[in-house]
Amino acid sequence: MEQITITRPDDWHLHVRTGAMLKTVIPHTARQFARAIIMPNLNPPITTVKLAENYYQEIIQAVPENLKFQPLMTLYLTDTIHVSEIKVAAASPYVFACKLYPAGATTNSDSGVTQLDNIFPIFEAMQKHDIPLLIHGEITTPECDIFDRERVFVDKILPKIIADFPELRIVLEHVTTEEAVQFVHAASKKIAATITPQHLMFNRNAILAGGIRPHHYCLPIIKREQHRLALIAAATSGHPKFFLGTDSAPHLQFKKENSCGCAGCYSAHAAIELYAEIFASSNNLSNLETFASFNGPDFYKLPRNTEKITLRRNNWIIPGYYSVNNDHLIPLKAGEAISWQLSE
Ligand code: DOR
Ligand code: ZN
Repeated sequence: MEQITITRPDDWHLHVRTGAMLKTVIPHTARQFARAIIMPNLNPPITTVKLAENYYQEIIQAVPENLKFQPLMTLYLTDTIHVSEIKVAAASPYVFACKLYPAGATTNSDSGVTQLDNIFPIFEAMQKHDIPLLIHGEITTPECDIFDRERVFVDKILPKIIADFPELRIVLEHVTTEEAVQFVHAASKKIAATITPQHLMFNRNAILAGGIRPHHYCLPIIKREQHRLALIAAATSGHPKFFLGTDSAPHLQFKKENSCGCAGCYSAHAAIELYAEIFASSNNLSNLETFASFNGPDFYKLPRNTEKITLRRNNWIIPGYYSVNNDHLIPLKAGEAISWQLSE
């Protein structure tokens, strides 16, 4: 196949930050996607509907005039968030989900939840109002090996949440393991998962073999090849429980190339093109639309987009960096060739 036309996709997991970074990254996302679920892990985090509305306005200001883009806002769950905020969220046209970060799991998760029991009344209210719960599924026990943190969360923690709140819609975000894929497959229809391009493209050698590559470091950390293959099978199967969520997470170059570098891969510059390349190389391009454009809105109970986009087989070189004021943002596959291109 030399070209493919699909319904305009959405990104169901995206970090856009604020200020100059936001102004650089929003045009990249809006070029491809109609909507995106916006992560609330700012500093300070988006913990109220009011903050989410303000953040929405800042994002809208950064959308280029010739493009249409709808940010779907989320609330950051803390130990102290009040049930009344969930009621306000349910009535808000801006807020579409709440995000659970176990405290300490990742970037700006310090205000996250320390004890799940603390927010059971919140889960109860979310279940009642049918607001999806988005989970960063890693345990935070420091003794737990970083490569095992998702597997243990899926084994020990997630089943408890599901057992207590069987009607709550849950997205296990950025799944990285065979075990998570199997769990989501076996769970009820209320449970789904997003999958990032980096976890489909790379195994852990891409971080550590032949030199340390900080731009491949993200959380949950990229795992062994066996897990990548399970993710490819899930994403390209067309199964309704799996959909596109880039987890594009921009950090300035000096924060990544650092003796203690930040977690996050920036992929918004070429997200749909990267997914197209992945689906094409596993001979499943015909399922790209289901993964990128149908399964997400169906799960979120939102209408599918009606516009189309066209991707063509064409080699182009990804820029070595993007400017953010006087700093640089290094994209995934910087300076490398990619074989699919969005027709503008
Ligand atoms: O790699 C990551 N970066 N994982 C996350 O969970 C957060 C994200 C970020 O905000 O930078
Ligand atoms: Zn994320």
